[in-house]
Amino acid sequence: MKEVLLEITDIKYDYREDGEVLPVLNEINLSILEGEFVCIIGPSGCGKTTLFNILVGLERPDQGKIILDGQDITCTRGHIAYMPQEDLLFPWRKIMDNLLLGVEINKGDLKAARKEAEGLLPLFGLEGFADSYPDQLSGGMRQRAALLRTVLTHHSILALDEPFGALDALTRAKMQKWILSIQEKLNKTILFVTHDIEEAITLADRVVVLNGRPSTITKELKVELPYPRQKTDVKFIEYKEELLERLSDTEF
Ligand SMILES: Nc1ncnc2c1ncn2[C@@H]1O[C@H](COP(=O)(O)OP(=O)(O)O)[C@@H](O)[C@H]1O
Ligand SMILES: [Mg+2]
Repeated sequence: MKEVLLEITDIKYDYREDGEVLPVLNEINLSILEGEFVCIIGPSGCGKTTLFNILVGLERPDQGKIILDGQDITCTRGHIAYMPQEDLLFPWRKIMDNLLLGVEINKGDLKAARKEAEGLLPLFGLEGFADSYPDQLSGGMRQRAALLRTVLTHHSILALDEPFGALDALTRAKMQKWILSIQEKLNKTILFVTHDIEEAITLADRVVVLNGRPSTITKELKVELPYPRQKTDVKFIEYKEELLERLSDTEF
């Protein structure tokens, strides 16, 4: 039996601006199991990034708690590895220097981190590119570099906000295959935001739908299909319809 690793309990969050209150999230409850791959899908603006910001301690919820391994980590940073929505590689730093940025900021052991990063370059398809600059890499390689930097922080949970959102379809399909192999090899728990239903069904053990105003979790779907998953599989198509139906309740 897998253990519960992360608990998101009764999270509520309102944006406040110029006296106006915009309710974004309400009654968000979610338990994540050790080693689980959970995809969070929802329409643009439903609060996916806000939820991640709360998870990693960048935003304070109006209500609720984030519990990791039984410990209350609400509003505290440094427990969950975060890869934000934008590609955050610095263009003026070589790939290796980008990879070591987190360790540098945290004043960690740079020598050890460099050795570890070098060892992981092949797994991330970046062998021979340590001294390249980000604009010399393809979009897929840049995303893998950003992910490697996230992995080097040594947290058991990775929170990835639409990591493949900007990639072309072919690269995206390759990256999906690749991330599943990485998860297995590195033994990580992954929280993955996407607005692509097929991507969610291709990757996740469980898909969580976030929508409404304010957003709540309107559906949780356990994907019971072996990997690699085929989009043409009857069950895949059924899952897709189930999720589409739930998402089509959303206002435009
Ligand atoms: N700094 C901000 N000030 C006010 N409203 C914001 C701010 N950031 C986001 N929002 C609003 O909060 C909602 C959720 O945003 P976000 O979490 O970025 O959604 P998603 O990641 O699902 O697209 C949106 O309606 C957005 O307009
Ligand atoms: Mg977002």
